Amino acid sequence: MGFFSTLLKTKEKPLTLNVKNNISCPPVTILYGTKTGNAQFIAQQAHKYFHQCGIESECHNMAKYDVGRLPSENKVLIVISTDGEGELPPNARQFSQLLDLADMPALNNLQYSICALGDSSYDVFCGAGKLIDQQLKKLQAKPIINRVDCDLDFKKSALQWIQNTHDTLVGINKPTETISKAELEAPDFMTATLKSRKQLTKADVEQAVYHIELDNCQNQVKYAAGDCIEIIPSNPQKLVAEIISKLKLDGSQTLISYNHSLEYALTYQFEITKLSRLVIRRYLKVYKGSELDKLYNNREELRAFISNSDVLDLITDYPGSMDADEFVSTLQPINSRYYSIASGYQKNPKQIDLTVKTVRFQLKERQYQGAGSTYVNESLEEGTNINYRLVANPSFHLPETKDTPVILIGVGTGIAPYRAFLQDLEAQNIRKKAWLIWGDKHQSSDFLYEDEIIDYYKNDTLAFINTAFSRDQEVKEYVQNRLVDYKERLLEWLDKGAIIYLCGHNKMGDAIKKTLIELYISEKGMSEQEAKAKLKQQRDNNIIREDLY
Ligand SMILES: Cc1cc2nc3c(=O)[nH]c(=O)nc-3n(C[C@H](O)[C@H](O)[C@H](O)COP(=O)(O)OP(=O)(O)OC[C@H]3O[C@@H](n4cnc5c(N)ncnc54)[C@H](O)[C@@H]3O)c2cc1C
Ligand SMILES: Cc1cc2nc3c(=O)[nH]c(=O)nc-3n(C[C@H](O)[C@H](O)[C@H](O)COP(=O)(O)O)c2cc1C
Repeated sequence: MGFFSTLLKTKEKPLTLNVKNNISCPPVTILYGTKTGNAQFIAQQAHKYFHQCGIESECHNMAKYDVGRLPSENKVLIVISTDGEGELPPNARQFSQLLDLADMPALNNLQYSICALGDSSYDVFCGAGKLIDQQLKKLQAKPIINRVDCDLDFKKSALQWIQNTHDTLVGINKPTETISKAELEAPDFMTATLKSRKQLTKADVEQAVYHIELDNCQNQVKYAAGDCIEIIPSNPQKLVAEIISKLKLDGSQTLISYNHSLEYALTYQFEITKLSRLVIRRYLKVYKGSELDKLYNNREELRAFISNSDVLDLITDYPGSMDADEFVSTLQPINSRYYSIASGYQKNPKQIDLTVKTVRFQLKERQYQGAGSTYVNESLEEGTNINYRLVANPSFHLPETKDTPVILIGVGTGIAPYRAFLQDLEAQNIRKKAWLIWGDKHQSSDFLYEDEIIDYYKNDTLAFINTAFSRDQEVKEYVQNRLVDYKERLLEWLDKGAIIYLCGHNKMGDAIKKTLIELYISEKGMSEQEAKAKLKQQRDNNIIREDLY
């Protein structure tokens, strides 16, 4: 697509607040690139803040923003998260692709400010924000202030970014002169009752997958297949008790900085089931020995330690003496967990279904358990309430044109959004337009929603089903093997305009993308460079849609 053809794109109505422009600052355009909604939330907060300060602004999803407007824009603020392994979130890919086009005009008149959201445990921290920053600089746009890279507890730095951007724009030098103090609103969580929970897998209770039904009667949240919900878990009680005991502290003592007991704070407020570089960096300040320094400065060992350890391991392997307030000051706030909606709104608007796998494993002679999955699958009792928020995921919705064929590729709980898709396709009477390629370990124990899926095949909602159960034969078989087995059909469907969906484990996503490149080379006679360019173009243009985690 050429740069100017984007001018023809249908315009989405932006979020606009009418203000009396009583400050001498031109209107500001705020764009967000997001996967799970954090960047959208910050962008909307910036929009409201500028409104309060009397500055006109518009707030757009990057995927819906007409890049053709950029050369005539004056001030653009961008909030963008990083997805995958240092990648752009799906709704920002086309924006970035257009900035790279040879006929993209210079942006000499544009001033911009970027707030990048990320997680410093990943190898490429805030990669998407850095990329957009480089691209805009290359096009001669000028930064209003330096890019701000925010870690998982992004709220304070993001707030600061909003305020500093504003102050620089309107020429305020001293923070005390700020017209209005930026404050973040609380995100709009709702409550739903857990109606029922049913185990789907037939063996391996330790890592069982459950079908969860939440009541949607009260809130009547209107969702689309492909969306997910965000929940804030509580931590496993056993782990909380072990940490308190290891630190030889009193769980009932009130923390000065949080006005809650240590036990309450560790249960509900802080992340303890996993570690991050940020926590280790902070822990270094209260831990007096030099061993942790050594670990922190060894990239490979640090990465291995973080991915195989939790907060209990940290305080066990690197014991220090500290009081409760000092200890919690090293921790990060508890993060949301996300679960794909596994039901179609049209079929049953009264409930929201989820498909959740319990994270529980044995390592280093210890039992570990995930916070979110065991909260949903085990701690939460039927008939009680859970707080949640809908996270729209428009980059993973069904195609707008009803008869577009869809190839649904996934493993494990990656089936969840596909169940929602199939319910929608059936409700809309769309037949033989979907092909499911899905896998797990064993057919006898792990075939999630087996009966339903076979029924979808029988009633022609599914044109084809191909499964890959990796451990049912001597040589392991994966979903990417099915792509090769059915390569003629795959290429034929792509020629007919099919959309490929990838959902489930990140590693599966990588394997499928690698296989597609190999097939473009072997079957289409492309060079490796051409095949990679084709894959990039398919991802940028939403022909390949991903929901990988
Ligand atoms: C957009 C999106 C959609 C998602 N949809 C779903 C869904 O539909 N269903 C679903 O079940 N999940 C889904 N997830 C994943 C989900 O959000 C959680 O990440 C997952 O449930 C684990 O969270 P937890 O709190 O239980 O574990 P945590 O407390 O986050 O994990 C504890 C630690 O254990 C590690 N770990 C996990 N397993 C092992 C192992 N075998 N060996 C060693 N270490 C291990 C983890 O890396 C982590 O460091 C989705 C994620 C995203 C981003
Ligand atoms: C599947 C997944 C992959 C991620 N990959 C990265 C990464 O490579 N680098 C990084 O800095 N952050 C990464 N993050 C962290 C997110 O950027 C961070 O959680 C951010 O706050 C999410 O914002 P959003 O809700 O707007 O998408 C990843 C998060 C998820 C869920």
